Amino acid sequence: MTDTDLAATVHHSGGSYPVVAGWGLIDRLGERLLELGVKGPAYIITDDNVMRPYGRNAQWALQRAGIAAHVFIIPPGEPSKTFGLAQSIYEWLVGLKAERGQPIIAVGGGVVGDLAGFVAATFLRGVPFFQVPTSMAAMVDASIGGKVAVNLPQAKNLVGAFYQPQAVIADVQALSTLGKRELSEGWAEAIKHGLILDADLLDVFEEHAEALMNVEPEISTEVIRRSMAIKADVVSQDERETLGIRILLNYGHTIGHALESSTEYGRFMHGEGVSIGMMGVARMASRLGMIPESIVDRHREILQRFNLPIKASGMSVDQIRYAMSLDKKVQSGANRWVMLEEVGRAVVRQDVPWELVDETLHELVD
Ligand SMILES: NC(=O)c1ccc[n+]([C@@H]2O[C@H](COP(=O)([O-])OP(=O)(O)OC[C@H]3O[C@@H](n4cnc5c(N)ncnc54)[C@H](O)[C@@H]3O)[C@@H](O)[C@H]2O)c1
Repeated sequence: MTDTDLAATVHHSGGSYPVVAGWGLIDRLGERLLELGVKGPAYIITDDNVMRPYGRNAQWALQRAGIAAHVFIIPPGEPSKTFGLAQSIYEWLVGLKAERGQPIIAVGGGVVGDLAGFVAATFLRGVPFFQVPTSMAAMVDASIGGKVAVNLPQAKNLVGAFYQPQAVIADVQALSTLGKRELSEGWAEAIKHGLILDADLLDVFEEHAEALMNVEPEISTEVIRRSMAIKADVVSQDERETLGIRILLNYGHTIGHALESSTEYGRFMHGEGVSIGMMGVARMASRLGMIPESIVDRHREILQRFNLPIKASGMSVDQIRYAMSLDKKVQSGANRWVMLEEVGRAVVRQDVPWELVDETLHELVD
């Protein structure tokens, strides 16, 4: 593996793994996996949208390297993250006589990664797992850190595990087939990384917004690597979300999740909810005297340059408030708010007055 593609190394209780990003990496996936000691056959899990070209190209790349590869294709989208589909994959693996040392490779977005990882964690009590993320959310977030899960009808991600992959290999070129809206919402998570932990990365976003929206190879690869490195660093420090570091990644998520869930995941894409949520929480931080108004303006300007929403016009404050009360991060009845002290430095506050939250929500829905 060439060092130039290495974004970060994740360290965890069971060892460490490389996180790499580069342009056209899927075509060279076979050699990379050989270097990582993979022996076939391998089991690729992908979805219907991603199969052509990425799932198929991954399969061919493995076969060129002498690694036999079978492919299981799931229907795209969140409804596929179920026990039912996991069961179908187990049965497929049994039918192919899959053995413990043989790897599962997720080629796709976060849904494929979470489901394939769940299967890898549980089939034969664990088989080697590789992440080949193709969506922005999967590259800068879902593929790194080992959270794998399926949904229950009652809630998302209710059953899962921490199961670390053996490598994360992101082909940044894949981003060029995402729709404009998907691209924008994906960049929201990476912008968030800059806001909470890397002020220089925010500068890069401000300088190269247009090139990033056009997925220009060099700058997009650099930004994806830096964003992956931030996630890798956070999960290395706080593998199981017990130390209060990983929670910083939830910047903008308290309001964002509430917007998503109170509209039954129909109106806002995840990154769009986060964008509005970051705007709201920046305003609150400014009113609490934590940041100057100029940082609120920077939020607004950068989010708008990436065509991201900064308001949730027409929504009911009561609905948002109710959804916020169900947030997983609520402790002793109070929301825990991730807030900036400056660009690149975030903290958790649990003492935000309700009147301020209310006032901010009213402004967001205006
Ligand atoms: N494990 C974690 O730590 C973690 C973190 C964040 C999100 N998640 C999970 O990730 C999921 C969301 O991820 P997502 O946004 O990638 O969703 P997704 O996997 O549903 O992908 C979104 C859509 O984009 C398509 N797609 C993927 N790559 C593409 C490409 N290169 N070109 C064109 N289309 C492409 C997919 O087929 C799908 O239709 C959720 O289930 C969420 O719970 C997990």
